Amino acid sequence: MKIFLDTANIEEIKKYAKIGIIDGVTTNPALIARERESFKGVIEEICSLVDGPISVEVISKESEGMIREARELSKIHRNIVIKIPSTWEGIRATKILSRENIKTNVTIIYKANQALLAAKAGATYVSPFIGRLDTTSTSGIELIREIATIYGNYGFETQILAASMRNEIYVKMAALSGAHVATIPPEVLDQMMRSELTELGLEGFLNEWRKLPKEKRGFFKD
Ligand code: E4P
Repeated sequence: MKIFLDTANIEEIKKYAKIGIIDGVTTNPALIARERESFKGVIEEICSLVDGPISVEVISKESEGMIREARELSKIHRNIVIKIPSTWEGIRATKILSRENIKTNVTIIYKANQALLAAKAGATYVSPFIGRLDTTSTSGIELIREIATIYGNYGFETQILAASMRNEIYVKMAALSGAHVATIPPEVLDQMMRSELTELGLEGFLNEWRKLPKEKRGFFKD
């Protein structure tokens, strides 16, 4: 499963990009509005830090405006993926952009049928918002399973990008349910590696090691 960072924060992106496990980044207008830099500056810097798909969302609600914005955004960098809301206007724009070989991420998906229509329009990715869906007492993970089944039944190449992750359990469940990508906020990514048992285990090994006389420690200095 690919891992994207769900943030526009440059410091967070730098921190995780250098570890080498980040395949891409997703932004949205709200995430970009939180940053101090100008919109274009933020996007250019993200593209310089991560060599993978970088989702940037259109603002227009009409397909003509979406298409115009998408063409402009695509000029910023070859890795830009255009995020388009899951509406009829968005589906029309997706179809036209896919004919122009512009990659799209149809977003704010809450229903399997929206994902089906997005795939038919040639979307590169669909983003089901699983955390937000859970707050309406509907299973976000079940939605991922449904989309995975539909895409499998008909051989759609559109990738499922699980979004709106609230904690690390969402990531595990998305991976178990057939999502191709999970886009993960930095604090949730951090949770994925943390384990008190790992820390205790490591401390235990090192405590035993320190009992070995220094002259017997080979090239290890401490
Ligand atoms: C994904 O592309 C969105 O930016 C994001 O996952 C939305 O998540 P939220 O529900 O935390 O706003």
